[in-house]
Amino acid sequence: MMQRDDVTVRMAVLKDVIRLAELDQSIFSDFWSEKAFISSVDSKMEIVPVVTLNDTDEIVAYAAVSFVLDECNINRIAVVQEFRSRGLGTYLLGCIEELLPPEVNIFNLEVRESNVHAIEMYEKFGYTVLGRRKKFYRCPVEDALLMTKRKV
Ligand SMILES: CC(C)(COP(=O)(O)OP(=O)(O)OC[C@H]1O[C@@H](n2cnc3c(N)ncnc32)[C@H](O)[C@@H]1OP(=O)(O)O)[C@@H](O)C(=O)NCCC(=O)NCCS
Repeated sequence: MMQRDDVTVRMAVLKDVIRLAELDQSIFSDFWSEKAFISSVDSKMEIVPVVTLNDTDEIVAYAAVSFVLDECNINRIAVVQEFRSRGLGTYLLGCIEELLPPEVNIFNLEVRESNVHAIEMYEKFGYTVLGRRKKFYRCPVEDALLMTKRKV
């Protein structure tokens, strides 16, 4: 696992879901409910990694990823506002690759086409744009770019 001195990555457990749903609501307009996080945490075909501060155990970043055979979809990835632009999003992308079963080597995600910071992060991490899903998002309605990366 990639190492950082300031944070730890671990899998979310049920007691994290209230906080995860709170954070998701503060970050996304189409946020996930506690129920959605519970179902993800409980699923054998999904992982919900969280990045916590070593000092306080506070969650500062999280993701939710579903996988089937050699392919996965990053359904959620976010860094808490005050902790952005410190490499945590990139760190979490790397952790996701290491935490999934080794046969998973295709990584897919959708991103709002206006989310230039996220798109830049994904491109720096090796993702490329594969296509567009028309009107994929609500609140506001917007196209998604479908991005993908293959592990070498
Ligand atoms: C997108 C997000 C996860 C990035 O996390 P982060 O920890 O801030 O990203 P990093 O620090 O690892 O930055 C990686 C690269 O992304 C780009 N980037 C990220 N935030 C940026 C910003 N505020 N301004 C400019 N570029 C930015 C830069 O290219 C950066 O590389 P650099 O550090 O060499 O400049 C975070 O901004 C976030 O949680 N946004 C809200 C939720 C969201 O949009 N999630 C993605 C849904 S598809």
